[in-house]
Amino acid sequence: MQNLKKLEQADVKGKKILLRVAYDITLAEENLPTGQAGEKMIVPDDTRIRATVPTIEYLLKQGCSLGLLSWLKRPAGKVVENLRMQPVADKLSELLARPVKALKDCVGTEVQKEIKAMKPGDIIMLENVRFHPEEEKADQQFAKELCEGFEFIVYDAFAQAMRMHASTTGILQVLPSASGFLFEKEITTLSHLLENPERPFVAVMGGAKISDRVGVMENLIKKADRILIGGALANTFLLAQGHKVEKSLVEDVFVDTARGEKKDYLKICQDLLQKAQDRLQLPLDMLAAESAEGGDVRVINIDEGEHLPAGWAYFDIGPRTIDLYSQILKAAKLAFANGPMGLFEIDRFAGGTKHVAEAMLSSGATTVIGGGDTESIVVRYGWEGRFTHVSTGGGASLEFLAGKEFPVMKYLVKK
Ligand code: 3PG
Repeated sequence: MQNLKKLEQADVKGKKILLRVAYDITLAEENLPTGQAGEKMIVPDDTRIRATVPTIEYLLKQGCSLGLLSWLKRPAGKVVENLRMQPVADKLSELLARPVKALKDCVGTEVQKEIKAMKPGDIIMLENVRFHPEEEKADQQFAKELCEGFEFIVYDAFAQAMRMHASTTGILQVLPSASGFLFEKEITTLSHLLENPERPFVAVMGGAKISDRVGVMENLIKKADRILIGGALANTFLLAQGHKVEKSLVEDVFVDTARGEKKDYLKICQDLLQKAQDRLQLPLDMLAAESAEGGDVRVINIDEGEHLPAGWAYFDIGPRTIDLYSQILKAAKLAFANGPMGLFEIDRFAGGTKHVAEAMLSSGATTVIGGGDTESIVVRYGWEGRFTHVSTGGGASLEFLAGKEFPVMKYLVKK
């Protein structure tokens, strides 16, 4: 692992800190049931905010004043009312039991006045940085404006570390910096999977999109003892093996016309199977239905040559696969999971995801989960605090585990 510049070793006492956080949270409309769209946005899941509280509390104890900066979703360089940081500031204020003032911008004269007036212990939340087109262009002049009035950067935005933007690599070129506790924990835990895993190391890969996960699988087949495949990911592998998957969700060939790129995921799956047949485990059976919403559900024993009826689709792994995956996981010393095993939002297709996660939890292994929509599984089943580590980085964890170096890293390691 690279030698990070750590917060505890930095001199931050009494300083005005630009705290870079990743509060890219899916907000909800408070009055949705009565149809009053856009009335007031709220934070339905505060995981990403809570994860930064140790860094914030440490900085407050050091007598710092804080300006928090993040982007939220993809407003494409203009102000989008429903993507303001105000609800996030309200939630943080509730969690810290102290005021957090949300500003209407992240640069400019008004913002400068607020930063100048900050006293130790004060917290301001700067507005969604993606309201400015300069952000995604990594405009260095804009990065300088973001830093104005601050003395030091604490970088805790793991989930946004994979982009080269003004508020990531840009600001880190302007002020001295250190990594925050969340960033350090994410990097340390995920590096451990890649560099020094306890064995047996078992990875469970699921979710809807193979395109997001090819890099991780290509890297993990070199590191893990077993990779257990589920979710819609399994459908592409099954198709690559010549099985019929009928109406199942599948990504087979992807053509990016803008870039002139074509990716054949069936070929990629075949290559992965060839490279790691002994380590890649595909489902023995799958749970199938005519539609997700209703009708019969049937187990299809793929390993016994059973076929999916015409027009049906796979929605979860089957009971024998759950048993097999659970046994393998119970013997693991280190287990990593990314993505659900089926359409877990619908109860009758949630069994695979739930049982596989429970097998991880009862294994006594070090358990790490994250990437894509994996965080939401923890919230759905109330498993907060049960896994050794739940990564807060969706796409970022996948890129990290695929072995890609984050562009911010260059500025956050000791020279
Ligand atoms: C995340 O939460 O995963 C990131 O904020 C997503 O960033 P992106 O919009 O650039 O993919």
